[in-house]
Amino acid sequence: MEAAEKEEISVEDEAVDKNIFKDCSKISFYRRQKQYLSKKSTYQALLDSITTSEVSTKFKIINEATKVPLLAEVYGLEGNIFRLKINEEAPLKPRYEVPDVVTSKPGTVRLISCSGDAGNLVLADGKGDLKCHITANPFKVDLVSEEEVVISINSLGQLYFEHLQIPHKQRTVKENKEDASIDTSQENQEDLGLWEEKCGNFVDVKANGPTSIGLDFSLHGFEHLYGIPQHAESHQLKNTGDGDAYRLYNLDVYGYKIHDKMGIYGSIPYLLAHKLGRTIGIFWLNASETLVEINTEPAVEYTQTQMGPVAAKQKVRSQTHVHWMSESGIIDVFLLTGPTPSDIFKQYSHLTGTQAMPPLFSLGYHQCRWNYEDEQDVKAVDAGFDEHDIPYDVMWLDIEHTEGKRYFTWDKKRFPNPKRMQELLRSKKRKLVVISDPHIKVDPDYSVYAKAKEQGFFVRKREGGDFEGVCWPGLSSYLDFTNPKVREWYSSLFAFPVYQGSTDILFIWNDMNEPSVFRGPEQTMQKNAIHHGNWEHRELHNIYGFYQQMATAEGLIKRSKGKERPFVLTRSFFAGSQKYGAVWTGDNTAEWSYLKISIPMLLTLSITGISFCGADVGGFIGNPETELLVRWYQAGAYQPFFRGHATMNTKRREPWLFGEENTRLICEAIRERYALLPYWYYLFYHAHVASQPVMRPLWIEFPDELETFGIEDEYMLGSALLVHPVTEPKVTMVDVFLPGSNEVWYDSKTFAHWEGGCTVKIPVALDTIPVFQRGGSVVPMKTTVGKSTGWMANSPYGLRVAVSTKGSAVGELYLDDGHSFQYLHQKQFLHRKFSFCSSVLINSSADQRGHYPSKCVVEEILVLGLRKEPSSVTIHSSDGKDQAVAFTYCARISTLSLKKLSLNIGSDWEVHIK
Ligand code: NOJ
Repeated sequence: MEAAEKEEISVEDEAVDKNIFKDCSKISFYRRQKQYLSKKSTYQALLDSITTSEVSTKFKIINEATKVPLLAEVYGLEGNIFRLKINEEAPLKPRYEVPDVVTSKPGTVRLISCSGDAGNLVLADGKGDLKCHITANPFKVDLVSEEEVVISINSLGQLYFEHLQIPHKQRTVKENKEDASIDTSQENQEDLGLWEEKCGNFVDVKANGPTSIGLDFSLHGFEHLYGIPQHAESHQLKNTGDGDAYRLYNLDVYGYKIHDKMGIYGSIPYLLAHKLGRTIGIFWLNASETLVEINTEPAVEYTQTQMGPVAAKQKVRSQTHVHWMSESGIIDVFLLTGPTPSDIFKQYSHLTGTQAMPPLFSLGYHQCRWNYEDEQDVKAVDAGFDEHDIPYDVMWLDIEHTEGKRYFTWDKKRFPNPKRMQELLRSKKRKLVVISDPHIKVDPDYSVYAKAKEQGFFVRKREGGDFEGVCWPGLSSYLDFTNPKVREWYSSLFAFPVYQGSTDILFIWNDMNEPSVFRGPEQTMQKNAIHHGNWEHRELHNIYGFYQQMATAEGLIKRSKGKERPFVLTRSFFAGSQKYGAVWTGDNTAEWSYLKISIPMLLTLSITGISFCGADVGGFIGNPETELLVRWYQAGAYQPFFRGHATMNTKRREPWLFGEENTRLICEAIRERYALLPYWYYLFYHAHVASQPVMRPLWIEFPDELETFGIEDEYMLGSALLVHPVTEPKVTMVDVFLPGSNEVWYDSKTFAHWEGGCTVKIPVALDTIPVFQRGGSVVPMKTTVGKSTGWMANSPYGLRVAVSTKGSAVGELYLDDGHSFQYLHQKQFLHRKFSFCSSVLINSSADQRGHYPSKCVVEEILVLGLRKEPSSVTIHSSDGKDQAVAFTYCARISTLSLKKLSLNIGSDWEVHIK
């Protein structure tokens, strides 16, 4: 490593120091809002100003102190969604409105103003089951569904809107005095960061002055809130104390602290709340720095003696207040009214899109390290997997594979023949992923830099000229991905003739795209850097990484002439990033606590749209003890994105380096992953077409069971498997909560079963991964595991039928070529349905539109929970033929097993058990 590189790396090490990151007390818009709100000046809606169009209803609101008019717009959207926008009626210049995230059309449901006296207005959708009550003074909105107030807006009067002002240097003292919205006296100016704000050694000079906004929402009857990733925190959101808001600000935090509300790599300003009978969502569409405060008032039940007979009937419901504050932009908020968790997922994906359908290989195991040194190293690691009979799909190369961190190039000494290396991987039906970061080395001889410079494609400085900051290559400029032209150009860099040494098995990893700027304020870009359209970085900071992944995914699609599905992993993300690929949780540490927190972190990502998510297996920083590594592989095998990764100064940790027994344990965990791939692939298809998350907190599957609302040490994969990873050392027993009083659960290894609705003690050895199949489900599997997913394309299937308390089970399978868009354009897919009822298992089509010529057969069927030994088992095929088959029955565990079958997966057939 060169000395200069070493220096840069140690810069990232310094970032562990939490002092370089701000807490609320150092964020000036937070202080300003708190100071102002303590004065309690109110807004009033001018309901005589109302205008209604096809798409929205508009009216003015005005602050009693500032008198600056704001314009409110209410929209109704398909699927029980309300949108409220508040902007200045006549801002000095346009304020930033986040583009490219919302994919649905605005205002598709016409709202009718149905009643209301002078001080009120009621808007209703055509069906009348959702109503929006607007109170004029003080301004307040109640969202009413089925005669119940679900959400109130501004009931705490925290609406806050800093209107654009003429820069202070140009203003007269008189004008200054007229603005009563905030205290602008000289001594307060600096403290409140109106036009300038300090961050370490940096001064953020604000061209537009103070522009922050805020609003409160009261959620009636709700105590359980989730969402707003990314934080290394519990799944259920906590009440925020003074100065301890959840921060949404994309930052590169090496070895982030856990149980902390500080902002890390990505932000999704979307929060869900759940109570018995209803799930709702609040999507705050804003890409500037955002803070969220949460405050739950628990339910109070008055007794007759305290309150008298009338009050006795009134049970005061709990409610939770959510206070959103953003540094800039406008108020643009979507209220999703459910009522079920499944409806909420559909509503949110209606707005931001669904999870992209991943290529099958990307659901296999990924082997990464910073760095695999050279082609020889890659070859040896690849061979190691085969020697130890461990399946894997993807080899990863980190920044050292390039010529001096110039992305799209190869280090000629280490990787003299990248195509040869890819051919080796191809011969095993494996893939390669290489890294491509958004910073571009300042080097006129580097063609990517020279072309971007020439075309003005970099983010600019406030004073003019390209922004330059330090990152891995040393001094770098940053591509302005917010510019569609830059995205188009960047995506063209992935074309095979342009990206020398690339082939169609090479895929991409976008890292450092918060963006990370070493020695920058909070390790990122100055907020007053300038983007396309003259927007300040402050307006769009949280969406920068989203755009890079978008451009990269488009590049991979374009290089295949629109035929192949891309795979792009990103560290930074925003609402809607699910459309472009996968996300991981960045630089975690090789400690048990980080393994444990990976579950709530991934659950939170999953319910906010990002189904394809994972955490570095083993922990990126430090050397995991062997037991931790084994447990991490076991947990990772049951998490959506499954990649082992480690930083540079760690010991090598390929799975076979920890002795025979541990190699076996890791191998077993990875093989379990591969055996379950048909189920994973179906879950991703389901996420893609039906918006339901792959990894689910228990409350989603059991929304009527209060006990599930706070659980985060176990979760569901789809609706069939419950996983409770072991996340503590030297454990011999785990307590597993099996929900559902009418459910039955089967241990996926021993097939022992339990009734639901209780916690069971499960003995665990080092090779135990506690996984339970829910009675009533059919899980498709592969009976043999090969070198990689590609090797297994034609290998046989097994079906694990777990019978419910009512004696039935259902499940699905989705199959296509695993890599192209033909499933979409030519309907080349198979979607099958398995249903077990009255001792007959039926394989039928779940979607007649799909066709895919598969030679795959179902080879094994296992029926769990069959109480009575059958006398015969017969296969009934679609050509009318019946055939008796051999079976074994185990009375001790009530299990029927059929082997050596040869039933075509794509044909209709029935298995009759008598
Ligand atoms: C930071 C990423 O989080 C890590 O995964 C990667 O190895 C390093 N950057 C080097 O590229």
